[in-house]
Amino acid sequence: MTRGELKYEGKAKRVYATPHPHEYVVEYKDDATAFNAQKRGEWAGKGATNNAITAHLYPQLEAAGIPTHFLEKLSEREQRVKAVTIVPVEVIVRNTAAGSFSKRLGIEEGTPLSRPVVEYCYKSDALGDPLINTDTAVALGWATAEDLTRIRELALQVRDFLVPYFAARGVNLIDFKLEFGKLPGGEIVLADEISPDTCRFWDAETGEKLDKDRFRRDLGGEAEAYAEMLRRVTRPA
Ligand code: C5P
Repeated sequence: MTRGELKYEGKAKRVYATPHPHEYVVEYKDDATAFNAQKRGEWAGKGATNNAITAHLYPQLEAAGIPTHFLEKLSEREQRVKAVTIVPVEVIVRNTAAGSFSKRLGIEEGTPLSRPVVEYCYKSDALGDPLINTDTAVALGWATAEDLTRIRELALQVRDFLVPYFAARGVNLIDFKLEFGKLPGGEIVLADEISPDTCRFWDAETGEKLDKDRFRRDLGGEAEAYAEMLRRVTRPA
């Protein structure tokens, strides 16, 4: 598909217009960043792996009743998606304490949570995606209260699909980040990627980290961990 104007460039992806007014092409890059781009790196195959994992999961989420922007995988690094306006609120769903949650609250990483915790952050590279609540998002016009109710409902539906999906493949889904977009008609749909960049995956038996924390924490073996996650995701349960 012919790529048009570059609409958006993020840390790990580029989004292009297409000749079709209601469709975009998303291109996955090999770049990796952490700590709001203060740490940078890249490894060959990262973009292709994240594209493949996302493209494998999204049709299954659609089949489970979760509307998404995804249309098809076009190539190793590209997918065709519905054009949406991204809601500038990142949604984090946590099943087990880790990362910024553990740090902020002094809760040991790996502590199970008795119910899922949904957190919201303002999508702003300049500010480092600060934690907000839904009142903030409504008061500043980033989303309506109805949109946020729907977003929370969909985020929990995604969790209900992903937790058993990964458990059946020997992976404990610790937490993950989602983004949502609005179609021209106003419908909220799941957008962005679901990959080792945006989820914490721990091997269910060994506890080994199979996600971007390998890069963030200088553990090494990130390319192997991402490849292992692609194998697990695409393997039958
Ligand atoms: O760092 P923190 O513990 O808040 O991250 C929670 C989850 O959200 C992790 O799975 C992380 O990979 C993801 N995340 C993300 N993009 C961000 C912040 C967090 O994908 N900007």
